[in-house]
Amino acid sequence: MTEAAIQQCLHDLPKCEHHLHIEGSLSPSLLFRLADTNKISLPAIETDPSFASPEALEGRYTRFTSLNDFLHYYYIGMSVLITTADFESLAYEYFARAHNDGVHHAEIFFDPQAHTSRGIAYETVVAGLGMAQKRAEKDFGLTSKLILCFLRHLPASDAKDTYQAAEALGHFSSGVVAGIGLDSSEVGFPPEIFKEVYESASKAGIRRTAHAGEEGDSTYISRALDLCSIERIDHGIRLVDDEALLKRVAKDKTLVTMCPLSNVRLRCVTKVAELPIRKFLTEGVRFSINSDDPAYFGGYILDNYIAVQEAFRLNLKEWKFIADGAIEGSWCDGERKQVLLEKVEQWAESYKGTL
Ligand code: ADE
Ligand code: ZN
Repeated sequence: MTEAAIQQCLHDLPKCEHHLHIEGSLSPSLLFRLADTNKISLPAIETDPSFASPEALEGRYTRFTSLNDFLHYYYIGMSVLITTADFESLAYEYFARAHNDGVHHAEIFFDPQAHTSRGIAYETVVAGLGMAQKRAEKDFGLTSKLILCFLRHLPASDAKDTYQAAEALGHFSSGVVAGIGLDSSEVGFPPEIFKEVYESASKAGIRRTAHAGEEGDSTYISRALDLCSIERIDHGIRLVDDEALLKRVAKDKTLVTMCPLSNVRLRCVTKVAELPIRKFLTEGVRFSINSDDPAYFGGYILDNYIAVQEAFRLNLKEWKFIADGAIEGSWCDGERKQVLLEKVEQWAESYKGTL
């Protein structure tokens, strides 16, 4: 198969995305445009020359030195998002892009505390995202869920207030928000800080995930599983450092949401080939491939699939295992999963004997 044919095959593979920060899909060009429209001042060029133009900012994004270095730009970037329409267009553009890459179901993170702390109401954010979700389902047949993330560098009491605000609006019981997550700076902010809020969510039957083992060691994963009863692991690349834990994750079919291009940009690994994808496949760990913050990390979901293929040369059976696992680990209902599993079956049939 030619490279172009392989890319077409990966494009056609029905995909689910589980690890996408909607604020991380804000491109430098949209960032500058919204800053202008909403009269938000960006850092002065004398302080940071990266803000001279969208091109200069794009260039700076290729030189992140760590997760915290990236987060500095990520929080500045999202400060231009003000109105419901801003959130709606941001999310709709992501859905349109994801649809073009062959995504059928997306579960997207949002960071309410990063908006409420700047005076943007939680309801403004969720209303905009919700409108985009409805339009994407109507226009593209793309189903989606929202995952409310807590910022781990802020106090647990802040996370609790955010949780209660969403609960008071009935957002969990109505399904407006499907679950909770934990993101931002990992090292020094272990999962157990948020044990109480995760316990409340667990009791209420709310879905739970957390970033774990991205920059933090493998105990961040085990502690998130044991103390916060997470049902999914975001990143989880340090699983390879604890054989027993890896076997447990495989046995429990806990989905690991991997983000290859992100891990390279944030220097968790030096190249995609260093990621434990072969090991996960051999041991039967269920994982999906995702874009994390595509506007910052140089690629959307299909770019991540292609990068994995270039590094590992997976065959059709291995890609089917990944695609089936991504569907089974999704938080949509059984009926939707069945539809998606059948699409993957048809894909495998049509590419039989090629990959
Ligand atoms: N917020 C957005 N992207 C993130 C990542 N890769 N890790 C932690 N927090 C994040
Ligand atoms: Zn992430």
